[in-house]
Amino acid sequence: MIGIFDSGVGGLTVVKAIRERIPDHDLIYFGDTARTPYGIKSAETVVEYAIENINFLVNHGAVIIVMACNTASSLAFEYARERFSIPIFEVVTPAVELALKISRRLRFGVIGTRATVQSGVYEKKIIENNPEAKIFSIACPLLVPLVEEGWLRKPETAMIVKKYLHRLKIRQIDTLLLGCTHYPLIKALIQRKIGKHVGIVDSSICVAEHLEKYLQNQFDRAHLLRKNGILRLFVSDITHQFEQMAKLTLKENVKLENASV
Ligand code: DGL
Repeated sequence: MIGIFDSGVGGLTVVKAIRERIPDHDLIYFGDTARTPYGIKSAETVVEYAIENINFLVNHGAVIIVMACNTASSLAFEYARERFSIPIFEVVTPAVELALKISRRLRFGVIGTRATVQSGVYEKKIIENNPEAKIFSIACPLLVPLVEEGWLRKPETAMIVKKYLHRLKIRQIDTLLLGCTHYPLIKALIQRKIGKHVGIVDSSICVAEHLEKYLQNQFDRAHLLRKNGILRLFVSDITHQFEQMAKLTLKENVKLENASV
């Protein structure tokens, strides 16, 4: 099975993108709803949670892991890679690769949680690839709770998005990286507020493409992956709100299972 985790509903945007590309593959998802959000926590705590989440998924049969969370990808990927011997995917690198491909003027905006932005991982990876690039990053700590709450079309959310993006607009970015897997759920709003001339990079789609290519070309233990199109959804706290958001995100009926890590 392919194991995927996030702090909450955001990682389901990755699940959806993966299911669109490789619908047969059995997936197991863990949403750490009891401990969300991750983006305002310390690096030590995020690393600890990420390791626990991976252990949970491995104990339930995962042989590949996708960190469907920019915060965990930014802070815990290196630790996880050292600790586990199975392939682990993170969401930052595939998004950076696409952003560098599509940008015309190398002026990048990055929006993400406070922890992701403070980690500086996007700047580092972009500059490593192209030292000429200009990167402007904004932490948007209010967006995760708004998305978890389902306030996707509320005028208050639109106002907050506009306020955050103003600082990127005046920098005349040409490419905007959605550095949090919750943000694809308000992608249309973000596009409206940043302007249609700005290209948006959605890490959930990028990581799904990487995973598909990896499975086709490199994974030598494909016999360990089951292909019955099954999706198991575990959360550390089952709530009606999460169930509603999961249905809305995946556009299918969901059955949540309780898990403690
Ligand atoms: N969706 C996650 C991310 O990509 C986590 C957000 C949070 O829990 O703060 O960063």
